Amino acid sequence: MGAGRGRGGGAGALLLLPPLLLLLGVARAQVAWTPIYVDGNNQVDLWTQEAQGCPCNFDPAREDCACCVQDGGCQCGKHMPNRCIQCGLEQHCGRMCNVTLDSRFLTSRSGKTFGQIKSPSLEGPAFCWFLLQPDVGQRVEVQVYRLVSAGRFNGTSCEGGFLQLVGDPDLIPSPSEIQICGGNERFSPPVVMFSDRGTASLLFIINEKTHRSQFLAYFSFTSVSSAGDVAFRVRGGHHVKDTECDWMFQEYLCRTPGYCVFASPGYPGLYPPMRRCKYYIATSSIQTMVHINITSLLPYTHCRTHNIAIYQGSAPYNSSLLKTICGSRNTEITYPGPELLVEFSSGPAVPPYDYNGFLATLEFIEPTTSTEPSTTPILNPTVPRIMSDVMKSREAARKIADVSPTTVSPRITRIKCDQIFLGNISRSGHFDTKNKPWSPNCTMKFIGRSSDVVHLSLFSYQLRAPSCETVVEIYDGLTGTGKPRHQLCSPLARFARDPGGRFLGQQTFISSENVLTLILRRPGSPLTLGEEFLNGAFLFHDEKMDGTLRPDTLCDVDYYGSSSLLRGHITNPGTHQLYWNLEGTFRCLQRFVPAVNQSILFTVTALTGLFMDPNCHTVCGESGCHCVTKLSPISQMDHLSFITDEGKTVSCICGELQREWLPIGLRSWSPLRIAYSVANYSWMQGFQYTAEYSFITDGLCGYSVISDLSGEIHSGKVDTSTVDVNYFYFQECVWLFDSKTERQLSIELTTEQNRSCAAWNMTIYKYDENTIDNFGDALHIFCPEDHKRKITLPWNLNIVILRLQSVTSAFPEFTIRWFSQTEFKNPGIAEPALSSRGNQESRFFPVMEIFWIAVLMCT
Ligand SMILES: *[C@@H]1O[C@H](CO)[C@@H](O)[C@H](O)[C@H]1NC(C)=O
Ligand SMILES: *[C@@H]1O[C@H](CO)[C@@H](O)[C@H](O)[C@H]1NC(C)=O
Ligand SMILES: *[C@@H]1O[C@H](CO)[C@@H](O)[C@H](O)[C@H]1NC(C)=O
Ligand SMILES: *[C@@H]1O[C@H](CO)[C@@H](O)[C@H](O)[C@H]1NC(C)=O
Ligand SMILES: *[C@@H]1O[C@H](CO)[C@@H](O)[C@H](O)[C@H]1NC(C)=O
Ligand SMILES: *[C@@H]1O[C@H](CO)[C@@H](O)[C@H](O)[C@H]1NC(C)=O
Ligand SMILES: *[C@@H]1O[C@H](CO)[C@@H](O)[C@H](O)[C@H]1NC(C)=O
Ligand SMILES: *[C@@H]1O[C@H](CO)[C@@H](O)[C@H](O)[C@H]1NC(C)=O
Ligand SMILES: *[C@@H]1O[C@H](CO)[C@@H](O)[C@H](O)[C@H]1NC(C)=O
Ligand SMILES: *[C@@H]1O[C@H](CO)[C@@H](O)[C@H](O)[C@H]1NC(C)=O
Repeated sequence: MGAGRGRGGGAGALLLLPPLLLLLGVARAQVAWTPIYVDGNNQVDLWTQEAQGCPCNFDPAREDCACCVQDGGCQCGKHMPNRCIQCGLEQHCGRMCNVTLDSRFLTSRSGKTFGQIKSPSLEGPAFCWFLLQPDVGQRVEVQVYRLVSAGRFNGTSCEGGFLQLVGDPDLIPSPSEIQICGGNERFSPPVVMFSDRGTASLLFIINEKTHRSQFLAYFSFTSVSSAGDVAFRVRGGHHVKDTECDWMFQEYLCRTPGYCVFASPGYPGLYPPMRRCKYYIATSSIQTMVHINITSLLPYTHCRTHNIAIYQGSAPYNSSLLKTICGSRNTEITYPGPELLVEFSSGPAVPPYDYNGFLATLEFIEPTTSTEPSTTPILNPTVPRIMSDVMKSREAARKIADVSPTTVSPRITRIKCDQIFLGNISRSGHFDTKNKPWSPNCTMKFIGRSSDVVHLSLFSYQLRAPSCETVVEIYDGLTGTGKPRHQLCSPLARFARDPGGRFLGQQTFISSENVLTLILRRPGSPLTLGEEFLNGAFLFHDEKMDGTLRPDTLCDVDYYGSSSLLRGHITNPGTHQLYWNLEGTFRCLQRFVPAVNQSILFTVTALTGLFMDPNCHTVCGESGCHCVTKLSPISQMDHLSFITDEGKTVSCICGELQREWLPIGLRSWSPLRIAYSVANYSWMQGFQYTAEYSFITDGLCGYSVISDLSGEIHSGKVDTSTVDVNYFYFQECVWLFDSKTERQLSIELTTEQNRSCAAWNMTIYKYDENTIDNFGDALHIFCPEDHKRKITLPWNLNIVILRLQSVTSAFPEFTIRWFSQTEFKNPGIAEPALSSRGNQESRFFPVMEIFWIAVLMCT
């Protein structure tokens, strides 16, 4: 370390000044703090220039009072004529204990955002607190340089007393924050501590009998916008919700070099003891390398408990450990993505508290997918070992091939890049011919379980040979003979990204059965052509469990009540390698199609990680949950929505979700799509949800053809005993009244429910064979508030359609009664012509009162 730990010289007086404090920026790993300058060596303390020689503030006639520092110092007054203190703190001259230090107040009185704390000399047991109230945009900084009779460190913690900076104003000591202790300590450089959680309290607690316990410190309300390390802020990452110190860094937010930075908590001051902070790093492509520049300053002899570990993967227990960093050093490392984890662990706070954790800058290095032929890869010294090993083995394989590039010897044909991927062993993965020895034919077989299809995505390839000499062939099934389903012909190239760095759309293939074969044939030699390669990802998709995959989509699936499993659960997509090269808006549609007499019931049971966008929030009411957006359209928000085949959104969830809203239930009698939409997607980002689904055979709603001349239908009831608050019914039921007999049809609709028309309603339509769903003109709309309506239709309007529509939290309950008058009995009007169906001009006839009286008497 650059600055030596000087033992402050000579005199025993406790008030002796610390050496001049300077910001030492040049040293490699160094605690940084706000410089607080003392004018001269003879100064009594920070605010008292000389003990006497100046006019007294309480008696202008006297000139034997203290001389104060011009800038910010004020005389203590009559009781202590030879002392000065920071203006604003005059009443604490005699006893600086239990004091509130308010940044705004001190700045207005003394013009300074910093000052000094000198505790009185206390007889233990004793307790003093100091409340530090920063202004907006400030962090609290404390520099401790002297500690007397304040407990002792027993190897794991402080015993008998301590000084502690706690990030809240409650004046309660916290065992999980740093406690510093010592019998007679002079700290140079000082012990530096920062707090970023608003008002902080500095607690000086002596639990045992002592004669004179005391500490000396500087405090500063440090601006977070000032230059240098003291204003450190994490940049470019998201704090992981419900964790103390975990952060997530994604490639798309770190495109500017040097922008993304992170550090141990409290940086550049001491970090809290016994912590484990995780910094997750995710690239959005497998070709991206991550460069991390770490400057660390950890206690040298405590490597086991104070260290930084870097893992490949996202969890320490099952990922491979790449590196552990201890002590004080500068470490620059480069590793390939797609996921890295930096884990910082701290042990007990150990004296002399002269360390401050680490600072790291993060950079994502774009793959150098040059289109130029390059037969000898240039090894970058920062490329880590695992990558260079891969390159070396490729080089070696190439050298063997070079011996005789045209006639391939039998020795070489044994080195192949063939691979078999089995769906019963791994459900998804990634392949890259660059990681395999070169061979003219490269066959990849994907063999799934019996209910699987193989979903393949080609990320990038370079086929250089002229006139289709190099080909990529994709076969359904195991054979590599016969006609391929797809063929890519050289010269042809594709890269995951466009020249601007944006990912291109995916090129995907889906097998028709559970086996797929991919062959890359490249008879040309890499020496003459340059490297030809192919890479991509695959996923075995179980059609029985996970729905039928739609062709040409990444993740859109259909579940049919007639053939899929009757119940199951669905979650967010996107953790497979297939989703690596995605960016921007991402949307997956899972469509559920109930069979005749079935309904589909969804229950969203878990939902986490929805972006807390203040511009979108969810409102749940009688007619479902809806996304309410300000400014931007919903397509620019992360959300989960339920959409009908006609494109109508029945329910939508966005913004921060109140946990007590869950579960949210939705039961539908017509096909419904669950749309998972993420506005700015990158791999492993986006929110998570889980929903249960079940197809229920209930016959409550559907498409019914009724040929009886009269009858009665009841809505039926659903079991509401297990129903939660946010539970909605979505119905589109249709009854087609069709009769070959000439008649006059009357329909009576009744309900006991007093609901709004928007919740549910019924419409009678003329039949029209020229429209897709046969809905002709609407003849009548029945709203629940009508309670009871009788509609008598014109003579010979033999086919009509009755449709119920509902989006409501209370299941619609109603009765439909109908009756047909088959004898034309209107003395006033002539016999109508024997008409064709439905498309007759409507002519209304008098109501058949007698019949209705009869019906009402019966019920
Ligand atoms: C400071 O205040 C606390 C209560 O807030 C009290 O227990 C303590 O004795 C006070 N210290 C002194 C030295 O007066
Ligand atoms: C140190 O002190 C703590 C707290 O008083 C105690 O729990 C721990 O056992 C002590 N350790 C040793 C080694 O004495
Ligand atoms: C890494 O950080 C150190 C110390 O901050 C700096 O000197 C060095 O230039 C950095 N390296 C890179 C490649 O940015
Ligand atoms: C590590 O464990 C997590 C949680 O169990 C799992 O999701 C992940 O796939 C595992 N990763 C590896 C590389 O095994
Ligand atoms: C996986 O499937 C292959 C081929 O279907 C079979 O040979 C193998 O035994 C299976 N392995 C396991 C672990 O089930
Ligand atoms: C590569 O495949 C072609 C076509 O199936 C075949 O003619 C050729 O012998 C194969 N070459 C090697 C080295 O396997
Ligand atoms: C997506 O990115 C745009 C532009 O960078 C930003 O304005 C928007 O807030 C982001 N939305 C989400 C949900 O992250
Ligand atoms: C649907 O339910 C109705 C009434 O329960 C029944 O009459 C009809 O046969 C059912 N249709 C099918 C296809 O199951
Ligand atoms: C039906 O509801 C409306 C408004 O909610 C109310 O004004 C009316 O009195 C209710 N009618 C009956 C019969 O309950
Ligand atoms: C009928 O109900 C549907 C579904 O609740 C609703 O969307 C529609 O606006 C209603 N029609 C009228 C006229 O209120």
